[in-house]
Amino acid sequence: MAEFKELSPDAPAAAKLMNWVDNRFPASKLYKEHMSEYYAPKNFNFWYVFGSLALLVLVIQIVTGIFLTMHYKPDAALAFGSVEYIMRDVPWGWLVRYMHSTGASAFFVVVYLHMFRGLIYGSYRKPRELIWIFGCAIFLCLMAEAFMGYLLPWGQMSYWGAQVIVNLFAAIPFIGPDLALLIRGDYVVGDATLNRFFAFHVIAVPLVLLGLVVAHLIALHEVGSNNPDGVEIKKYKDASGKPLDGIAFHPYYTVHDIFAVSVFLMVFSAIIFFAPEAGGYFLEYNNFIPADSLKTPSHIAPVWYFTPYYSMLRAITSQMMYALVACVLVGAVLGVLKAKIGGLFKAVIVGGAVVLVIAMLMFDPKFWGVVVMGGAVIILFFLPWLDHSPVRSIRYRPDWHKYMYGIFVINFVVLGYLGIKPPSLINERVSQIGTLFYFGFFLLMPWWSRLGTFKTPPDRVTFAAH
Ligand code: HEM
Repeated sequence: MAEFKELSPDAPAAAKLMNWVDNRFPASKLYKEHMSEYYAPKNFNFWYVFGSLALLVLVIQIVTGIFLTMHYKPDAALAFGSVEYIMRDVPWGWLVRYMHSTGASAFFVVVYLHMFRGLIYGSYRKPRELIWIFGCAIFLCLMAEAFMGYLLPWGQMSYWGAQVIVNLFAAIPFIGPDLALLIRGDYVVGDATLNRFFAFHVIAVPLVLLGLVVAHLIALHEVGSNNPDGVEIKKYKDASGKPLDGIAFHPYYTVHDIFAVSVFLMVFSAIIFFAPEAGGYFLEYNNFIPADSLKTPSHIAPVWYFTPYYSMLRAITSQMMYALVACVLVGAVLGVLKAKIGGLFKAVIVGGAVVLVIAMLMFDPKFWGVVVMGGAVIILFFLPWLDHSPVRSIRYRPDWHKYMYGIFVINFVVLGYLGIKPPSLINERVSQIGTLFYFGFFLLMPWWSRLGTFKTPPDRVTFAAH
């Protein structure tokens, strides 16, 4: 226990109050550790604002969510009407709802950019693996949160989107049909589904999300932030132990982030006030029609942030399974011929490949579509161990690595675009190539990330005062 500190009776009342609190709760200590004496690298750039913006959007979602819950009715007979009531009759209800619906898309924009920053500066690498893993878990929670929230307005897209996705679980061998029943609480999406999705959306998932965000930040402050040069600032410290290239988070980065928040809020408000549906991308037009279990919309597409994964799901056809089988066989042959491992491990590779190929040919491609869609997110957890490049930051990697990341982004956007479009043969082929590239990028990373001529990173961060 820390020593009880006494202040002089002449000390100002505010100081006495703070001292009273500090003797019972480490308020000043926490403030120093995480704000005024948290030393962040001085060379942060544009890419470093998205963590704070994600925090802002999280708060916006929670606060607007609380107010929406005051007027929303989680009942299949009343839900659609209650949302219309919020939009038309509740004072400022339209604003609260548009903030929440636009906030959902903004969350994904901000988080995708935040993850991309981690990717290009190697922020997931030792010793920051756990920051990244907590981040990936946050991303999974966000997806679950958005998916379940989307059912609540009980429009056509809410209903049929949930129907399609929950039915996918039914394709899992053996347990699938029971699992889908458990998720729905009924044989079709219905009132029971709406009730449980509401419970998960308003309390269960947000609690986990908040816990993970706290863990994410604790892990970050334990090891310290990375930076665009990818060099450790803790290597050079002054006599007091402060990193020479570090500056206090408060006030330097609070100001930096307040500027970003202002710009963000301008864009955010412009969308809310002038284009809240964003041309059908943020709020799909079909969702202004009440859910009707007897009328399937001709085209069902998820909201934009899910479409890259949806494309990968649709890419897994029975023809594509042959391409995947070929990939597994080539991988196994290369593993046996090239890897420096013992005979026993080689036997395990051959055995594993044979079992996998049999399973791939035996089970429904729809199931493998689900595996590929889930795997596209799960693979992100392993990134710290897939990247074998001798340097962290993209700045010091060979130029062709930059093109590789560029193609990765273009591929992700193309997959996203195709996920919105109705299926066609050409779209199917392109999304199949895109899916192979996406997985190839990660699975072959241990090999390609080591290739090429690397520049030597500087000893200390590069920084020009401005
Ligand atoms: C609710 C969502 C999230 C919030 C509120 C959040 C918050 C933050 C904040 C405030 C920072 C420090 C400021 C910064 O470096 O930008 C940070 C850093 C970081 N975040 Fe997140 N984050 C979220 C999601 C994610 C996700 C989904 C990932 C990756 C999968 C991720 C990976 C990282 C990494 C690797 C760092 C360290 C970056 C560095 O030091 O270079 N975060 N996060």
